[in-house]
Amino acid sequence: MVSVVLFAWLSACGGEEPAPPAPPAPVAPPPVAVPVPVAAPVAAPSGPYTPDELALAAYEKSKAAAADARPNPKAGDPAAIAAGKALYAKCVTCHGASGAGDGIAGAALPQKPAQFNWKERWDATTIGTKHWIVSNGVSGTAMAPLGLTEDQAWEVLSYIDAELRSK
Ligand code: HEC
Repeated sequence: MVSVVLFAWLSACGGEEPAPPAPPAPVAPPPVAVPVPVAAPVAAPSGPYTPDELALAAYEKSKAAAADARPNPKAGDPAAIAAGKALYAKCVTCHGASGAGDGIAGAALPQKPAQFNWKERWDATTIGTKHWIVSNGVSGTAMAPLGLTEDQAWEVLSYIDAELRSK
């Protein structure tokens, strides 16, 4: 018995090259903090507008009507319509690609964005009033001034008038 163990011990030690030392394990780089993109908070609509907010919006529109009675100097102008189509990118999230007031953001609003393809609604205000609204927004609603120049506001209205509103 002892001789078997001894033999095994001897043959384990006998003459074999020692295994080369294992290469050092690669050192893992320190973890890099990857910024996790955080979705921009979307202001959740708190519910339908209050009567006060609606009154303010109506007041703003009456101000708009008084402030801007002008016709659209660029109505029907093909260059203005093309420029307005590009500018409409600023409106599409709320007013929708076809002007149905069903853009992604618009769907969540307590007061739906104006439906440009709804004839009665479009005809209810003059183009001058709409120009004032595009330039100044409607207080109390999500319709904010979007920084368009005077001419750009006419151009985007030329586009809506020519392509989106129902005739
Ligand atoms: C954040 C959402 C939002 C965006 C973006 C937006 N609107 Fe509006 N818009 C509204 C809402 C809501 C109303 C409804 C206000 C009301 O009924 O008083 C409105 C109303 C209007 C009106 C008044 C229509 C009417 O008949 O009374 C016009 C014109 C208008 N928007 C044009 C635009 C144009 C042009 C753009 C892009 C340059 C734009 N809006 C971008 C939300 C938006």
